[in-house]
Amino acid sequence: MPNVAIISISDRSFRQEREDKSGRVLQELVKKQGWVLVHYDVIPDERAIIAGTLRKMTDYKKADLVLTTGGTGLAPRDVTPEATRDVIEREVPGLAEEMRRASLKITPHAMLSRAICGIRGKSLIINLPGSPKAALENMEVILPALPHALELLAGQVKDCQPATGHTEKR
Ligand code: MTE
Repeated sequence: MPNVAIISISDRSFRQEREDKSGRVLQELVKKQGWVLVHYDVIPDERAIIAGTLRKMTDYKKADLVLTTGGTGLAPRDVTPEATRDVIEREVPGLAEEMRRASLKITPHAMLSRAICGIRGKSLIINLPGSPKAALENMEVILPALPHALELLAGQVKDCQPATGHTEKR
């Protein structure tokens, strides 16, 4: 079962002016999936702090999957994608593309998320939007591909078999 870290990125939650609901719903999702939560933190919208926390999760905590929530929008302090780009070695654009594409069916505001996904070492880092609803909706989109993504990252797959049961007819 993958080791998962959840990092909530929000000035207001960090200052305890707002409850971190997204962190809570993501923890519930991790539990439901049977994954192992290795770390949970609430940090401010500071690029260096975000990048440092991500490095700690991947390099020391050895999280297979790092979920961030918040800071992906257009507000002046939204710098999660920039901090993520500071630490990733390879981008996985398809995950973020599909999160935005599928979310556009729910809200036109989906196009305002600048979330990115990428790999550092053997860890997959995924930016999710900040609201609990948006974070869960985006996770639902990528969940079907995550087990295979993590197998590939761990080097457990030699040959990639075509997946059956695509969710949509072309
Ligand atoms: N995606 C889904 N599926 N559902 C949503 O409600 N909210 C959007 C977007 N993505 C939303 C969504 C909004 S309103 C914004 S501003 C961006 O995510 C960025 O959110 P963030 O700044 O909280 O990270």
